[in-house]
Amino acid sequence: MKRKLLAASSVACLMLCGAAFAADLTVGFSQIGSESGWRAAETTVTQQQAKERGIDLKFADAQQKQENQIKAVRGFIAQGVDAILIAPVVATGWDEVLTEAKDAEIPVILLDRQIDAPEDLYLTAVTSDQVYEGKVAGEWLVKEIGDQACKVVELQGTTGSSPAINRKKGFEEAIAAKSNITIARSQTGDFTRTKGKEVMESFIKAENGGKDICAVYAHNDDMAVGAIQAIKEAGLKPGTDIKVVSIDAVPDIFLAMAEGEANATVELTPNMAGPAFDVLEKFKADGTVPPKWIQTESKLFTQADDPKGVYESKKDLGY
Ligand code: AHR
Repeated sequence: MKRKLLAASSVACLMLCGAAFAADLTVGFSQIGSESGWRAAETTVTQQQAKERGIDLKFADAQQKQENQIKAVRGFIAQGVDAILIAPVVATGWDEVLTEAKDAEIPVILLDRQIDAPEDLYLTAVTSDQVYEGKVAGEWLVKEIGDQACKVVELQGTTGSSPAINRKKGFEEAIAAKSNITIARSQTGDFTRTKGKEVMESFIKAENGGKDICAVYAHNDDMAVGAIQAIKEAGLKPGTDIKVVSIDAVPDIFLAMAEGEANATVELTPNMAGPAFDVLEKFKADGTVPPKWIQTESKLFTQADDPKGVYESKKDLGY
């Protein structure tokens, strides 16, 4: 009996101590900005995850500027936070400030984007496989189009960001063997609806009023929603005259899908902070070092997947 009591109390302590441990944590979060519905959801979920765990989250919005992110990270180091989360707007230019965090013995965790820097400068990166996301999008189009000639226009994410680089790579790999599918135009829409619409308008103008465009591949749903607007204003039917495939699976793309105006999206979870806080708490509690990459899953959704129902299930999740 005594042994059982002992076991029970040590389990209780483990749980309480763990929670108590998290309660002591102060974490700085350098967020890119609020360029897309997905980004807004990631911010909401991160704040919820921190609150649930009693973590004191210091939030800094960089308005999509790396220099603001670097400034925020330096501020967190000066404050002596216990850890730093960064969603890195671009993949390069991080070595110096991450070395400063390392010298201050403050662990850094990357959220949703990768960087080109020595792996010892960050504890782990919680991201999707962005090349795979592009591949899933490309494979869907290959299946949809068959052998018909198809001119694709591509709306790229933020120039120099890991999702823009990798999603382009994955899509190109998927269509490489299909000579009937070509990318005719490709330009950044910076992951925003406004820019996505503007760039799609220019593509339409350049391609016979859009009549020569068979599909638009957008690196995120927000640019796809902007493109859908431009296609409609040109008097064409998005989803039929021009197929629309993108990434994120935000609620609004499912509204468009339900109207037949979008065809496919690859889901990106906004909950990168949950896995990040899990490994951080363990690292702080007993020194367990996590793998350098914690991969989140990517799932394809099409018009066959009850878009209205999916919209209802996602609409209150902070997008
Ligand atoms: O890094 C993830 C990307 O950033 C999302 O696909 C996009 O919506 C956001 O701007």
